[in-house]
Amino acid sequence: MSYSPIPLATLFKSLAIFLGLVLLMFYISLKKNTHFHQFNLLANFTQNWQASVPITNTPTNISHIVYGIVGSMNTWKHKNSYVKSWWRPNVTRGYLFLDRDPTMDFLPWSSSYPPFRVNENFIKRSLYKNIVRPDQVRIVRTVMETFKQGDEDVRWYVMADDDTIVFVDNLVEVLAKYDHSKYMYIGANSECIKSNFDFSFDMAFGGAGYALSYPLAAALAKVFDKCIQRYTHLWVSDFMLYSCLSDLVVSLTHQKGFHQIDLVGDISGLLSAHPQIPLLSLHHLDTIDPIFPFMNRSESINHLMKASKVDHSRLLQQTICYHRPSNWSFSVSWGYSVHIYENIFPRSYLRKPIETFRPWRKERPPLYMFNTRPWPPGNPCCEAPHVFYFDSIEKSEGNQTVTTYVRASPRGLAACSSSGNFSADPITQIQVFSSPAAKHMEVLHYSWYRKRSLLQCFT
Ligand SMILES: *[C@@H]1O[C@H](CO)[C@@H](O)[C@H](O)[C@H]1NC(C)=O
Ligand SMILES: *[C@@H]1O[C@H](CO)[C@@H](O)[C@H](O)[C@H]1NC(C)=O
Ligand SMILES: *[C@@H]1O[C@H](CO)[C@@H](O)[C@H](O)[C@H]1NC(C)=O
Ligand SMILES: *[C@@H]1O[C@H](CO)[C@@H](O)[C@H](O)[C@H]1NC(C)=O
Ligand SMILES: *[C@@H]1O[C@H](CO)[C@@H](O)[C@H](O)[C@H]1NC(C)=O
Ligand SMILES: *[C@@H]1O[C@H](CO)[C@@H](O)[C@H](O)[C@H]1NC(C)=O
Ligand SMILES: *[C@@H]1O[C@H](CO)[C@@H](O)[C@H](O)[C@H]1NC(C)=O
Repeated sequence: MSYSPIPLATLFKSLAIFLGLVLLMFYISLKKNTHFHQFNLLANFTQNWQASVPITNTPTNISHIVYGIVGSMNTWKHKNSYVKSWWRPNVTRGYLFLDRDPTMDFLPWSSSYPPFRVNENFIKRSLYKNIVRPDQVRIVRTVMETFKQGDEDVRWYVMADDDTIVFVDNLVEVLAKYDHSKYMYIGANSECIKSNFDFSFDMAFGGAGYALSYPLAAALAKVFDKCIQRYTHLWVSDFMLYSCLSDLVVSLTHQKGFHQIDLVGDISGLLSAHPQIPLLSLHHLDTIDPIFPFMNRSESINHLMKASKVDHSRLLQQTICYHRPSNWSFSVSWGYSVHIYENIFPRSYLRKPIETFRPWRKERPPLYMFNTRPWPPGNPCCEAPHVFYFDSIEKSEGNQTVTTYVRASPRGLAACSSSGNFSADPITQIQVFSSPAAKHMEVLHYSWYRKRSLLQCFT
């Protein structure tokens, strides 16, 4: 008998090939699995879109938007007047999310409030282990919980705080311009450079309100809890959302008109020089002075809403004009204020807000994402305006709207001598005649030393 052993080298070679084959097969099956998984995931998303976003060309209207408003039972007493100022019962759709059940003094729940929901008690779940800020996780999960209410025929989910004022009709018109069947994340960042620097210049600040298209909300809801787990160390809900959306390869579409108002004090300078862009929201109304000096905060907002109800697209739109015989400049912020300067200033100057406000936190300049005019000004007689605030609104003949603005207080300064010493002190009120057909023109009426004057102002 002869014995012929397999040479050791050959054995090793076969073993190596065999191992290689096993590894290759393992790799292929892994690839197949991930492929299958992804395909499955996509299939489900597509299914969902088709079910809830019928491919139609009908214009977007108020019923296509579902709001998720983040509230808290402790503060609802002070915030409900803000929500009531814009919420339209049985017309606007959505929910107020609370941290706990309403207390007896709010029951039965008023039908002039959005219906309430209590946020899921996520803290108990083992999922969330190292949460730095449970309140922020509650806030950000409201996006998903709003989606999970399962409303039908939704194109947009709009998130806001209980101290956010939403200008619903303008929002409908603005959102209608975007494709709701795509992944869309629409909002605005903060007025303050430092706030944006600390988080991201491309993050939507939630108090200003932001919109997610239905397909994006659906995609997000699927992965949200897993995603938040990755970001439990973060301190701010908006940044968690921004991080999760970035992971879904979605970036912010900047939309002007949402206002976070990371400001304190008197924001009249900002509201008096609003660009020609629909006003979408105002936030932080508790941290700023009442926007009309002769009213409290909630009255102020309801007052602004009076103008909004008559001509929402005109609200705060700035138009500028000049009265050459007296060397005056006029700046109108429709439905809010009129400023008269005893000097001729170019539009580029008058479009810059007067810095009547301060930033959220004390920082080193530059402070803001926009240019401002210093306040108080270097030459008050010529640079400080006579300020008139919106008082009343009525319809006149020929579909014209007349808004009346009254002087807030005497200016208490000498006339501007460099341009002719024409004091605007005698003017006590200004009427602005607007015609819906002439979007970018206003006609001003005022009397000056018993003379009636008439001026045409343009954007
Ligand atoms: C897709 O939907 C089906 C049925 O609705 C479900 O069983 C399956 O788990 C879903 N797949 C994924 C990846 O979510
Ligand atoms: C909004 O449009 C849908 C059709 O897409 C229609 O069914 C609904 O009645 C409209 N709602 C309002 C308030 O016009
Ligand atoms: C809203 O609709 C419900 C049911 O149709 C009705 O009971 C309620 O009075 C309505 N609320 C308002 C404020 O119109
Ligand atoms: C604001 O003024 C209105 C009307 O005068 C009043 O009803 C309301 O209680 C006031 N609100 C606050 C917070 O003082
Ligand atoms: C006022 O507006 C209505 C509807 O927009 C229009 O039918 C009417 O002709 C207008 N009237 C005048 C005097 O312009
Ligand atoms: C308007 O201002 C200009 C420049 O300051 C000045 O030269 C002119 O005399 C002024 N017009 C009147 C009517 O005072
Ligand atoms: C404005 O009045 C001052 C003081 O009365 C005078 O010195 C100045 O020349 C006047 N300016 C003009 C442009 O008339």
